[in-house]
Amino acid sequence: MGIQITPSILNADLSRLADEVARIPSADWVHVDVMDNHFVPNLTLGLPVIEALSKHASQPIDVHLMIEDADRWAPAYAEAGCGSVTFHAEAAKAPVRLAREIRAQGSRASMALKPATPIEPYEALLPELDMLLIMTVEPGFGGQKFLDLCLPKIRTARELMRKHGVETWLQVDGGVSLETIERCAEAGADVFVAGSAVYSADDPDAMVRELKATAEA
Ligand code: DX5
Ligand code: ZN
Repeated sequence: MGIQITPSILNADLSRLADEVARIPSADWVHVDVMDNHFVPNLTLGLPVIEALSKHASQPIDVHLMIEDADRWAPAYAEAGCGSVTFHAEAAKAPVRLAREIRAQGSRASMALKPATPIEPYEALLPELDMLLIMTVEPGFGGQKFLDLCLPKIRTARELMRKHGVETWLQVDGGVSLETIERCAEAGADVFVAGSAVYSADDPDAMVRELKATAEA
């Protein structure tokens, strides 16, 4: 599939969501962060807003669920038409069943790991997943500094995927910018979330293209 950029709308103008998404035609996906003020100390938006946005976005929606009780809620986001649904390993009681339920709805199933959560206990799950998200900041807010300490985990995840012979995409989220994207790509990531880097740029779409070119270099 190659390198893909999935801008996060968290730091966009949320009063004009559809317009903000229309500003990034070069994006491969639109990354939407759902937060419940329990799993993370912040609250954003949920199913009704995503259902409304999906009617206006030309790209598929890559939803990142930072919510408790993922087992209950994640399948509903797949049913709502999100192209990719990411739940957190720390919030899922039955991740294998959950990934299968998401896939059964026709969406890509993805699991996220917070910075302190190791990949090794989840190795056997990799064939059940279409994507693994390695957080490179503590989830909850945009605009945080990239955590270099997560790079070895990206490397390990890529090695484990090779070992299992799976085509799982490897996404990074948090502090991704023109400064940090090369390090992530070199470690083995191929799907890049970028929030503030894209939406604080004068030309967000040019930034998407520049991020992609930098990761591909
Ligand atoms: C943070 C979210 C991210 C956030 C990234 O918990 O998951 O998607 O919007 O924002 P930046 O790119 O600014 O770190
Ligand atoms: Zn996110």
